[in-house]
Amino acid sequence: MKTIGIIGTGKMGEALIESIIHLEYRIIGSDVNNKTRQMISQQYGIKMFDDNYELAKNSDIILLAVKPQYIQPVLKEISEFSGLVISIAAGITIRQIKESIPGSRIARVMPNTPCLVGEMAAGYSFSDDATQQDKKIVNELLNTAGVAVQLDENLIDAVTGLSGSGPAFVARLINYFILAGKNSGLSEKTARQLTVQTFLGTAKLLQKKNLSPEELITMVSSPGGTTIEGRKVLEKSDIKEVIDNTVLAAVNKSKELGKNK
Ligand SMILES: NC(=O)c1ccc[n+]([C@@H]2O[C@H](COP(=O)([O-])OP(=O)(O)OC[C@H]3O[C@@H](n4cnc5c(N)ncnc54)[C@H](OP(=O)(O)O)[C@@H]3O)[C@@H](O)[C@H]2O)c1
Repeated sequence: MKTIGIIGTGKMGEALIESIIHLEYRIIGSDVNNKTRQMISQQYGIKMFDDNYELAKNSDIILLAVKPQYIQPVLKEISEFSGLVISIAAGITIRQIKESIPGSRIARVMPNTPCLVGEMAAGYSFSDDATQQDKKIVNELLNTAGVAVQLDENLIDAVTGLSGSGPAFVARLINYFILAGKNSGLSEKTARQLTVQTFLGTAKLLQKKNLSPEELITMVSSPGGTTIEGRKVLEKSDIKEVIDNTVLAAVNKSKELGKNK
């Protein structure tokens, strides 16, 4: 059985442990934080290290889940590692990891926050030397934690703008729907319950019935009914352009941050 060593068992590291713990891997972890180490080993029964070098020595696969600003010293500590390194650190490129750990094969992942509830949307890419088995492993691990799509590294900025930053954009829209519900006389609590469930239900309906958004829109728009009346306002507005510009601004910022690396 292969051993996965998770470096950094904070929010994302823990969420990934929770998602993959039932798979056929031995999981170990390391973290600088004493309390986090204790909590993780108690909660999940996994061996925790306070030394990344030791963890790497005991791992076949490393999952890097520390904040990008702390990544450089960690890469130095594990520079002798040879094997598959899966990094979820935002903005850290395959080239940067390869330069620090020359013997490694790399998967770079752009996850998003719903990973915390097992509903991650992620894009990922590999270094050229990644093997078919590496690809199989990464695909299995990530799709257990949600939905993950393999793509070229130059598209990671697009993923960052769409699904990486997306939860904040969607939450903003949800907030506006709640306010609209309140303006129509509902209490905040009721407006919130109904809005969140409407977003969740709509997304599940699209996913589970494999419907396109247009098909769903047609399904719920009876001629002369309430939905069509609302759509007239929505579709006459510049919402399409606003959303397009929102995602584009995030994509461009991701590209700009990448250039400084
Ligand atoms: N959170 C998100 O929604 C999200 C979304 C996309 C991508 N990501 C990526 O996921 C990664 C992890 O983010 P997170 O939100 O899970 O961060 P986090 O909650 O801060 O977890 C990181 C953990 O790593 C520990 N740590 C710091 N330096 C370390 C070192 N040298 N060796 C071992 N452990 C160390 C931290 O301890 P201390 O707390 O004591 O520093 C903390 O327990 C980041 O690279 C981020 O870019 C996160």
